[in-house]
Amino acid sequence: MAEPKKLFIKTYGCQMNVYDSERMAEALGASGYVTTQSADDADMILLNTCHIREKAAEKVYSELGRFKALKAANPDLKIGVAGCVAQAEGAEIMRRQPLVDLVVGPQTYHRLPAMEAAVRAGGRAVDTDFPEEDKFDHLPKGPRAMRGPSAFLTVQEGCDKFCAFCVVPYTRGAEVSRPVARVLAEAEDLVARGVREITLLGQNVNAYHGDGVGGVWGLARLIRELARIEGLKRIRFTTSHPNDMEDDLIAAHGDEPKLMPYLHLPVQSGSDRILKAMNRKHTAADYLRVIDRLRAARPDLLLSGDFIVGFPGETEADFQDTLALVRAVGYGQAYSFKYSARPGTPAAERAGVSDDVASDRLARLQALLAEQQREIPEAMDGREVSVLLENPGRMGGQLVGKSEYLEAGHGTDPRAQLGDIGRVRIVESGPNSLAGVLV
Ligand code: 5AD
Ligand code: SF4
Repeated sequence: MAEPKKLFIKTYGCQMNVYDSERMAEALGASGYVTTQSADDADMILLNTCHIREKAAEKVYSELGRFKALKAANPDLKIGVAGCVAQAEGAEIMRRQPLVDLVVGPQTYHRLPAMEAAVRAGGRAVDTDFPEEDKFDHLPKGPRAMRGPSAFLTVQEGCDKFCAFCVVPYTRGAEVSRPVARVLAEAEDLVARGVREITLLGQNVNAYHGDGVGGVWGLARLIRELARIEGLKRIRFTTSHPNDMEDDLIAAHGDEPKLMPYLHLPVQSGSDRILKAMNRKHTAADYLRVIDRLRAARPDLLLSGDFIVGFPGETEADFQDTLALVRAVGYGQAYSFKYSARPGTPAAERAGVSDDVASDRLARLQALLAEQQREIPEAMDGREVSVLLENPGRMGGQLVGKSEYLEAGHGTDPRAQLGDIGRVRIVESGPNSLAGVLV
């Protein structure tokens, strides 16, 4: 057998890209590639890119520039750009960076083996179609390998919401849900390979509407069916939209023990005027009502959110509404960003807020969020959480993992094994991290 070629994939952006990178590695595995941890000895480098905010795309271009020396040293090295920058820029990437051999958008990864062959034959290849077929079904399957205890599983992709600032509807395309049977088969396969926790992924995962037995299934029904898989201990899902938080999904948070008490539910702004300008189609009060109902179902639910400051037209009063909403909710985790104009989106045409003002608001918002994130773990000292032990820790005999609430936790116990869920009594807590003793 020929010596395997080496594939280095660098992944930017969201968890869906992490999942896609794994699928691309499997697909190219069928073309004779094994993955490597370093770009230096690679025969193919793939950058799986993100376009959601400005710096992400710029980072890709500067990263590409750095491969010049590698390509000079190894003329057989092939360089590819995948993901949302690939989709948005297409062949423009090749004009701007002649080192690039291959550009592949997020919906055509199943064509990667053929593109690789074309590139090996000396060509350059670009494919940014939105084909009818499901890329996951047509991906060649690589060797079945054991997996770590936690895995992602994409169930839904794309978005029809068209928030005024967001590129996702353009880069990932219209909303598509994978059929229930495919999702279940993939979950069963993951569990057979050692997975104990699955995070269901979708840009709008709670809008999931997959073909199932007897008709279309929503996310709650899918979760309940997944929960029947015996070896599967934990289910999570991300990212959700407040308008798709249906009754049965809220109920599942209360009565499905495998569904973890953590929810990422972005609101973006607390000002109704800005929410309207963002085309979010909900008010701050609508969002707070959803949160109340979720907490009624599951009082210890930890909430996470996304915020944008400095959206075009945002005044200090609008920003104060965002701070008020944050105070009303109490987030255990949050991501906040300065607005960045994405070409092709409706908001990109509007006059923005000055960068100084946006930076100042971001700092104030982040200070408030950090304060909330300190308070929650402090309240946990002396309490017990369940930690899924995912990796060996840095200290001898230590195992590290995540609590139900997604905090990092660690402990030491000679009887514990990776994949176990250990009860950990918290002896020390910091933002996002818990130290404990396994009990
Ligand atoms: N500018 C700043 N933040 C953005 N996000 C999406 N688009 C933009 C943009 N143009 C943020 C939103 C979203 C998260 C994934 O990224 O908060 O929820
Ligand atoms: Fe983007 Fe809005 Fe769709 Fe989320 S819901 S992916 S922010 S358009």
